Amino acid sequence: MSLALETAKRRTFAIISHPDAGKTTVTEKLLLYGGAIQMAGAVKSRKTDRGATSDWMKMEQERGISVASSVMQFPYKGAVMNLLDTPGHEDFSEDTYRVLTAVDSALMVIDVAKGVEDRTIKLMEVCRLRTTPILTFINKLDREGKEPIDLLDEVEDVLKIGCAPMTWPIGMGKRFKGIYHLYNDTVRIFATAEGQRASEGELIEGLDNPRLDEILGDQAEELREEVELVRGASNEFDLELFLAGELTPVFFGSAVNNFGLQELLDGFEKYAPAPKGRETETREVKADEDKMTGFVFKIQANMDPAHRDRVAFMRIVSGKYEAGMKLKHVRIGKDVKIAKAITFLANKRDQAEVAYPGDNIGLHNHGTIKIGDTFTQGEELKFTGIPNFAPELFRRAQLKDPMKMKALQKGLTQLSEEGATQLFRPVNNNDLILGAVGVLQFEVVAQRLKDEYNVTCLFEPVNVSTARWVIGPQAEIDKFTKKVTENVAYDAADQLVYIAPTRVNLTLTEERWPELQFVATREH
Ligand code: G4P
Repeated sequence: MSLALETAKRRTFAIISHPDAGKTTVTEKLLLYGGAIQMAGAVKSRKTDRGATSDWMKMEQERGISVASSVMQFPYKGAVMNLLDTPGHEDFSEDTYRVLTAVDSALMVIDVAKGVEDRTIKLMEVCRLRTTPILTFINKLDREGKEPIDLLDEVEDVLKIGCAPMTWPIGMGKRFKGIYHLYNDTVRIFATAEGQRASEGELIEGLDNPRLDEILGDQAEELREEVELVRGASNEFDLELFLAGELTPVFFGSAVNNFGLQELLDGFEKYAPAPKGRETETREVKADEDKMTGFVFKIQANMDPAHRDRVAFMRIVSGKYEAGMKLKHVRIGKDVKIAKAITFLANKRDQAEVAYPGDNIGLHNHGTIKIGDTFTQGEELKFTGIPNFAPELFRRAQLKDPMKMKALQKGLTQLSEEGATQLFRPVNNNDLILGAVGVLQFEVVAQRLKDEYNVTCLFEPVNVSTARWVIGPQAEIDKFTKKVTENVAYDAADQLVYIAPTRVNLTLTEERWPELQFVATREH
């Protein structure tokens, strides 16, 4: 099949939601449609990632599962779906942001009783940066919740996006009887799903069908009236507006009962965009270009602690990947033969023979590949827009056994290459300062240093409140580095960073050095 046809079939997306809304359950059920039954069970076992640190650790011990479920590919009708997992815990949000740079659309899952929650708001902001089209699934209709009309208003008000209901629920909680598809004019009667089977409620054609009155009784008439009201009061679906990120098609259902998800998947297949190109520093790369290009958006280290290997996840932007092909690793200027990439079709972690734009492949390496790296078939390109955020919390690594310094350095460096934490080395001393966006990360790092590097270390407070990457003319940077030695450090990529003891100090420094820029995000 041609590159263009294969590309057109791809739908690459991630789920954005607040913890507990049902992301894990939705993921699991979606995979059922692709025949990935076993995989679905595996997803369940890693739902612990929203729990305490120890749970997260346990999950990480099942690393084999977690890498396979970082990227899940499954066929659906004529489409090939690529679902990218995003870490559940808030402390891993930086990782989430980067995963969102590798998708073309997103699925927003909302709990019918809770409505729009914090984390959804934040993630939506991120999607907006790249005008990612969003589909919405309102979950848990088998429970009592907010009135659907009110909920759509809430989404529109809070998230500033129009809602176009595609399906409409018939009652909720104990009275939940099914959904009506506003565009197909069909009613699907609610049936609960046993275990891992997909539920298949009766499908009734036409809102006027007397069969509806038979099954729904009074609720049939209620539904007819409500549908008329909804049609009058809500937005009609408009593909252009959806693709522009201004309108979201909304589907209702119950994930745990695998109900309403098929309609959602149909929506993905029909409306979600095929893989788009990406910007580089010099030009835009289009998905239909023949030459292969891709960028790395995620690294997972120590898949196998005994071998210290890590997998770099690369999104293919253009062209076709074939096993054994030679690619240029642009940052280090080297050609590498990619013989053993991993693909993620259904439940198997298989060696990739071929992959197309929108697909992701996993590259084994020993630390040579970093987040943000570009691979091409020779062209000097650098994809942009994969952010590194200035951390907000800082701790100094304090070693129990001074003989283990080397191992500590190595561990901290490698773990920060996964992207969740950042390592800073001050220019005037041998401290190792770790920066993170959430406190949990320090615990996770300490635990992993012990498990994977056999190093016991504590993280103690350090007098740093914020960090900024320093950019400007080299002469000025040299002057600056000499002058304020005590507050400058290098990050893992040897970029100069100002580590400010206080916000006030940062402001003063910015004023004092007008030729330099102090930036809060660095692009990989
Ligand atoms: P998350 O990944 O977004 O954090 O959510 P997850 O899927 O783990 O779901 C959170 C809880 O909501 C789970 O219950 C799950 O079973 C439940 N849930 C998901 N979809 C539905 C639904 O359609 N209806 C109802 N009533 N509940 C739903 P839990 O008690 O935390 O876990 P479990 O013991 O049920 O596994």
